[in-house]
Amino acid sequence: MAMWGGRFQEASLDEFRAFNDSLAFDYLLAQQDIAASRSWAIGLAEAGIITAEEAALLDGALAELATEVEANPELPLQTKEEDIHSWVEAKLGEKIGHAAKKLHTGRSRNDLVATDLRLWSKLNAGLVRDALQSAIGALLTFARSHYGLVMPGFTHLQRAQPVLVSHWALAYVEMFRRDLSRIDDALARMDVCPLGCGALAGTGVLLDRVTVAERLGFAAAARNSLDAVSDRDYVVELSAAASLCLTHLSRLSEDVIFFCSGEAGFFKLGDAISSGSSLMPQKKNPDVFELLRGKTGRVLGHLVSILHVLKGLPLAYNKDMQEDKQGFFDLMATWQQCLLVLATVLPHLSVNAGQCRRAAELGYSNATDLADYLVGKGVAFRDAHELSGELVLKASAQQKPLEALSLTELKAVSPLISDDVYAALTIEAGLAKRAALGGTSPEQVGSALTAAEQWFAKL
Ligand code: ARG
Repeated sequence: MAMWGGRFQEASLDEFRAFNDSLAFDYLLAQQDIAASRSWAIGLAEAGIITAEEAALLDGALAELATEVEANPELPLQTKEEDIHSWVEAKLGEKIGHAAKKLHTGRSRNDLVATDLRLWSKLNAGLVRDALQSAIGALLTFARSHYGLVMPGFTHLQRAQPVLVSHWALAYVEMFRRDLSRIDDALARMDVCPLGCGALAGTGVLLDRVTVAERLGFAAAARNSLDAVSDRDYVVELSAAASLCLTHLSRLSEDVIFFCSGEAGFFKLGDAISSGSSLMPQKKNPDVFELLRGKTGRVLGHLVSILHVLKGLPLAYNKDMQEDKQGFFDLMATWQQCLLVLATVLPHLSVNAGQCRRAAELGYSNATDLADYLVGKGVAFRDAHELSGELVLKASAQQKPLEALSLTELKAVSPLISDDVYAALTIEAGLAKRAALGGTSPEQVGSALTAAEQWFAKL
């Protein structure tokens, strides 16, 4: 019988049950529901609502249930209970009989589910955090082991200026560092316990909500019962952090897919992380990175879904909120998996140094250096830009790079150009010039890498 059956005269329709029940997915909250119940039972005893013996009976049975669920996480699925909260109560009833009926005193499934989901979110945000650290570690290793190699940098997917391969990897480290701090921000804000807020108006039992919260590892007890039972900000915040983090991962994937293409040939995927084609024997496909890009779409969808579920809800609890779970569970698992996959595959990605360098030399990537050279000779930058552009036009008409123009050809455009221009047009000179903070000079990248490694070692 349902836990709310007293005022009902007819049994529920099976179709209603199938639509209404949530056990098929909220059984994932079993451990959190048990933990919340243990803290609540002790709180009830502390307030003198149940006896110390009853509390000990409840606590022992809940601990036993926790062990059973640990051994078989899908245990709740073996019954037809409405949700994880009624399942836990029903199991307690089987174990200790009458005393189990006292557990729900002064609490509601509304404050309970809000507590369970927060506990679950804290735990899983921590796991994602660990996965993000592994991904950052793998990127730092990649940056360290390819330090010194040069590749083309792009804007508009047109060759722009050469950059160090490590500079590229460190760009993603920056993004992931921001993602890490977003998770930490969300964790700090969600560390508030709704238990003891009742259905909406607060519990009728005068117990110490702060110790109930502290026993569960929360930093504080929620200040407003109406808000506490209907707040899902932490679901939105984690979904938003996931969406942004995966957007970064997706951009990284897009870069890698392009870098591995036959057209670019900068990076090469190891056999262990590539797939082939059932038809074309020569193929080696970057499926892993395509999946990382694809799963990003799925996660962005979950963010949009939860915002839509919440946007029109009046205070306080509404059953719409049951729709906060499936997408969110999938989002957190996908987020963690994608980060761990990135950490696993990066060591199998090699760099074709020769091809990267050849490509960096093409496409007039040193045209800015030529303009800068003229600036060094006293030409105003806008004029230098114009002159360098003229020389690009001249060189491309002859299908050769700038540095293949003769001194006479160069001087015909600007008499200020002399023999030292050829040294200024080398990749090394171009890189070395980008020596201000944040630039791609080997010196700057070297110190950025060391600083990032030191930050990482202290995490
Ligand atoms: N399964 C419900 C949920 O996830 C639990 C809370 C039910 N509360 C209620 N008043 N029906 O939201």
